[in-house]
Amino acid sequence: MEKVLWVTGGGSGMGAAAARHAAGQGWRVAISGRREDALAEVAAAITDAGGEVLTVPLDVTDPEQIKTAHEQVVQHWGRLDGLVLSAGLNSPRRAWADQDMDEFARIVDTNLLAVARVIDVSLPELRRSGGVVVIISSYAGWQVSPLAGVAYSASKTALASVAISLNKQEAEHGVRACHLCPGDVATDFLQQRPNVPDEAARAVMLTPDDVGRAVGFVLDSPSHVRIDEVVISPVAQT
Ligand SMILES: NC(=O)c1ccc[n+]([C@@H]2O[C@H](COP(=O)([O-])OP(=O)(O)OC[C@H]3O[C@@H](n4cnc5c(N)ncnc54)[C@H](OP(=O)(O)O)[C@@H]3O)[C@@H](O)[C@H]2O)c1
Repeated sequence: MEKVLWVTGGGSGMGAAAARHAAGQGWRVAISGRREDALAEVAAAITDAGGEVLTVPLDVTDPEQIKTAHEQVVQHWGRLDGLVLSAGLNSPRRAWADQDMDEFARIVDTNLLAVARVIDVSLPELRRSGGVVVIISSYAGWQVSPLAGVAYSASKTALASVAISLNKQEAEHGVRACHLCPGDVATDFLQQRPNVPDEAARAVMLTPDDVGRAVGFVLDSPSHVRIDEVVISPVAQT
């Protein structure tokens, strides 16, 4: 039976790369995000390469949409074996001096609450399958980084707790979680920086595929292997 993976943030960047990589390794992949055109483009690439894919548009900050999307995935394939949680948000206003608290709440909602909600709604199937959860956190989730933003750093460091608690409490069901912490990756996410990196700066960053491969390593490790945390960064990371 081919395993089923649900990827949030699957329409671009690392989520798309992880989806493509997993599909190439034989996973059936559901991809979610708000932009239907981006999802369709990734889905076409997966289908063209011979993979099986379902697009499930959703806004991860809406708990009802998460429930509906989860039902769609499970109804379509009848099982769920893995999650890659890559949907994320930051803001150029990153310091106590200039941050906006409504924006702070949206960042925490997207980066932390939505991750917990998708795991929570998926837990019954993950327990049945001995599933694996890959949380795309950040270098700023591994080491607090004020430059990454107060809300961003706080929301990403909290993801370590999400992964550790899942591992400690759900091991008896074979559920495994990985807190995956990438350094700089050349994706559209960089547009949210106060100073957007130029081409030369992007050229020495990780590519989304570098992270897609690391995610694939976690997803395809044997079921008795848990990879608690992965920190992956470009040589030039400061
Ligand atoms: N790039 C970096 O240097 C870097 C480093 C460390 C960690 N990260 C993390 O890596 C993850 C993926 O980012 P990326 O670098 O691959 O950039 P990206 O291409 O911008 O990916 C972010 C994804 O999140 C989705 N998303 C955002 N808000 C959403 C919402 N409310 N509902 C549903 N989907 C939502 C976006 O899709 P839609 O806009 O279509 O909804 C998009 O596909 C993020 O969690 C980010 O924090 C990035």
